[in-house]
Amino acid sequence: MDITTEDKKLSRLTNPGPDDELRGILKGTNFEDYKSPLFLAWQLNSACNLSCLHCCQEAGHSMPDELSKDESLDLCRQIVELDIPYVAISGGEPLLCPHVFDVCKLIRDNNISLKIETNGELIDQQAAEKLASLNLRSVQISLDGATPQGHESLRVAGNWEKVISACKMLVECGVNTEVVFVPTQFNIHEIADAIDMAYSLGAQGFYTGKTMQIGRAAKNWDIICASQEQYEKFFKILKEKETFYDGKLNIYYYPYDIIEELSYRLESPSASLLVLANGKVKLAGPLPFVCGDLRKESLKEVWEKYKQAWKKHEVIDFTRKVITDTRLLAKSNKWIEI
Ligand SMILES: C[S@@+](CC[C@H](N)C(=O)[O-])C[C@H]1O[C@@H](n2cnc3c(N)ncnc32)[C@H](O)[C@@H]1O
Repeated sequence: MDITTEDKKLSRLTNPGPDDELRGILKGTNFEDYKSPLFLAWQLNSACNLSCLHCCQEAGHSMPDELSKDESLDLCRQIVELDIPYVAISGGEPLLCPHVFDVCKLIRDNNISLKIETNGELIDQQAAEKLASLNLRSVQISLDGATPQGHESLRVAGNWEKVISACKMLVECGVNTEVVFVPTQFNIHEIADAIDMAYSLGAQGFYTGKTMQIGRAAKNWDIICASQEQYEKFFKILKEKETFYDGKLNIYYYPYDIIEELSYRLESPSASLLVLANGKVKLAGPLPFVCGDLRKESLKEVWEKYKQAWKKHEVIDFTRKVITDTRLLAKSNKWIEI
């Protein structure tokens, strides 16, 4: 595997989509050629302290069968053995998971690039220092507004001040801090100020793109969905800001929506796995298909099953249907084992 070339692509293009999939980064590569994935997105838990209207995971409560600490550490060892270059840990809210730091340490002790996605609410000085000691690729903080109103109306029970303070602490501790902004009716008009704010907080990256119509976002779509006109203005602002902040703040945005992405994926699946908190492995966030179970199979076996799964008629037919009928996206968290 030519890790060097791929890793360059990863560092330049990382995931603009907050569902933590590598949107389009593997263009031109054949995922079947890889003996192991290039990227693993791991939803470490399902518990969350917030109840966001747009949550693609529908996070809130723990699953009854989440991987234990020992099982999670075993998965880390398999990640190391397979030489997977890049892992992203998400949730739920990963900082609620009691063994999150053990998992991160084992991954980092083996020099695997690691990003943590968090809502930032639980980051105090001690947590910021602990995160800094891990020498992470980045900590990605969800900041969905330049004002408390924009952020908190989407992130129900969220506290904007806490997130701002988390960003400051992380930056002060030397953590590569990135901001993710999910646009909706409530906050899309704050995009310009949110980028300026991310820059003034010392963030090094700003990620955004069209909100995915899955999970709770699908259920709340009529309330949260931004209009075509709003998106046009949004992308225009992003372009302007990209030029303005060139060399100072990396602004990553993906102009396509989830349907456009699925069409692409059908032709060219990415070399990545999405691991759920209970060890089941999904083909992709927007699809319901589960192609393996890490309690029953090794990561290597699941990777081979993932490659085969994309060729199955059931997957191809369903994905084609989703592309023409977006209502089916609402089923993305109702798993179908294949
Ligand atoms: C599911 S959250 C989990 C991590 C953490 N609890 C948080 O809120 O950041 C991971 C990222 O996905 C984003 N996200 C959630 N639902 C989304 C959706 N429907 N479309 C796009 N991004 C979404 C969140 O805003 C967040 O940046």
